[in-house]
Amino acid sequence: MWQPLVIMQNGELMPFANARVHPLSLAMAYATTVFEGIRAYRNPQTGAFKIFRLAAHVQRMQTGMKVMRFDRKFELEEVREYLTRLIRANEPDDDVYVRLLVYIEAIGLMATTGPVGFTAAASPRERPKLAETGMSLGVSSWSRLSDNASPPRIKATANYHNARLTQLQAKADGYDGALMLTSAGKVSEAPIACFFMVRDGCLITPGLGSSILESVTRDTIITLYEEATGKAVLQRDVDRSELYFAQEAFLCGTGQEIIPVISIDRLPVGDGAVGPITRMLQKSYFETVRELVPDRHHWLTPV
Ligand SMILES: Cc1ncc(COP(=O)(O)O)c(C=O)c1O
Repeated sequence: MWQPLVIMQNGELMPFANARVHPLSLAMAYATTVFEGIRAYRNPQTGAFKIFRLAAHVQRMQTGMKVMRFDRKFELEEVREYLTRLIRANEPDDDVYVRLLVYIEAIGLMATTGPVGFTAAASPRERPKLAETGMSLGVSSWSRLSDNASPPRIKATANYHNARLTQLQAKADGYDGALMLTSAGKVSEAPIACFFMVRDGCLITPGLGSSILESVTRDTIITLYEEATGKAVLQRDVDRSELYFAQEAFLCGTGQEIIPVISIDRLPVGDGAVGPITRMLQKSYFETVRELVPDRHHWLTPV
């Protein structure tokens, strides 16, 4: 597997180990960071790399920076140029996962809004093994952050304290992962992925008002499913007890891709095997990101 050679800070490439942020920066002191996890996939036939849904990631990052009142803007073209340079300089021979972090570098008072710096790192990422076998989830006793406290719809590092507590509890309880409920007791999402379930032939996912990240992959799955089946994905509230009625379930995200869920709270999902709709969406997703089918939505950006 290829290894990262260089990392980028504020537009400058440097050896991976040389990246620095001051420990007293606002980024460290008050978690004033917005980030993105982005993938560039290698087409197995041509060897070409293309970044998947860059525009959607940049748009979410821009909104996160706006909500957090950062005093700098990044345009799509600028980010495209940075990431292209970063990926090429690392000479990958397989898929690339890019972490893009934008943060307040200043040492100062909490309401300081700049200067804003950024780091972009490229690394290899294996496909999660659970993508084949499926995973177990437990409903967490930690609640999902709420919109009027620390809005989960933006990708702020501060939100991952909540996610990490949930993940730690899941591990301690012997699950592969967790599902969080909103403060109103409705199903929200997993610590680093969105949730879908199949019930009576319908694909269902909690709505954007259920304290979830505005996930790029969730939007991709909705589009692919609706195009393939001609049926709408139901975006609506899901009660905890409805989880136990699911015939299929899966998590999705840029990093996780599509991971089947085969049990929740130690109860099997359906018959406990990976279901046909989940398999169909996994296939369709990988054909799309690797451009094994035409890029009808202009989701791919050449590196
Ligand atoms: C909390 C959370 N939800 C959902 C997702 C999936 O988001 P996306 O599809 O944009 O990667 C992530 C991914 O990082 C996440 O951290």
